[in-house]
Amino acid sequence: MIRFEPVDTVVGAVVSGCDLTQVPDQDDIALIEAALEKYGVLIFRDQQISPAQQIAFSRAFAALERTSRVSARLDGHPEIFVVGNVDGKVVSFAPADGSDELEWHADHMHLAVPARASMLYCLETPPVGGETLFACMYAAYDALSAEAKDRAEGLTALHSVSGLQTFLRTKGVKGAAEGEYTSPETLTVRWPLVRHHPLTGRKALYFGSKVTIGIEGWPDEKARPYLTRLEAEATAERFRYAHAWRPGDAVLWDNRRVLHAGTPYDMRYPRRMHRTTWREEHPIA
Ligand SMILES: [Fe+2]
Repeated sequence: MIRFEPVDTVVGAVVSGCDLTQVPDQDDIALIEAALEKYGVLIFRDQQISPAQQIAFSRAFAALERTSRVSARLDGHPEIFVVGNVDGKVVSFAPADGSDELEWHADHMHLAVPARASMLYCLETPPVGGETLFACMYAAYDALSAEAKDRAEGLTALHSVSGLQTFLRTKGVKGAAEGEYTSPETLTVRWPLVRHHPLTGRKALYFGSKVTIGIEGWPDEKARPYLTRLEAEATAERFRYAHAWRPGDAVLWDNRRVLHAGTPYDMRYPRRMHRTTWREEHPIA
């Protein structure tokens, strides 16, 4: 029987009684879907799954997306996005060591088809560093003043992979922004800054610190300070859960109500993570 034990932060629950090598039945899918909305981040410990098993489990919930960064797809399993520093290829969303700037985002928010949920499975991780941070965008929205809520609700945010690539290049993560992408850097998508969760109607902020490049109809000199302040408020410590990885951890999160950010690690140590990415419909205003 599947159980969910909330961690003592605003998002996150540890899941027990769920073996990811098994494709879930309809009852388990419904339980996990509901818990994913409720807790935002689900942590499955001590799993041993092959790429094919991770794909089969994930596909029980949704059609899967492939990373737009072609070179980071796993050979033979293009639905797996390899994150880390594997075989000389670096895929990281964290700044180089020594910077405290974070790249908060929801997966694929800069694409025409964003990601509904993502599962990251840890095969290898450095002894320290490389935690993944999650921030609750329900709580962040709820904490805004009435005036700030009204203002945010009328806004449309603009997103592009160019914002992410520029950040990684300037932060000196060697190779992190290089590679072949299926979507052009010039592609800009527009989503409501405040979105409704389709299961509950709850409102959540939806933006990224780098991948969100502006606010529709606003000049940069107005949009950038607004987004910077919003990021500081929305990703404050009290809205966060920090996941310190162990090999065998699989973490599933709901991109419709949490943002996440990688943190730096010493790249002399190997890090190998496999992500599956669930296709979503358009964010609802
Ligand atoms: Fe991500």
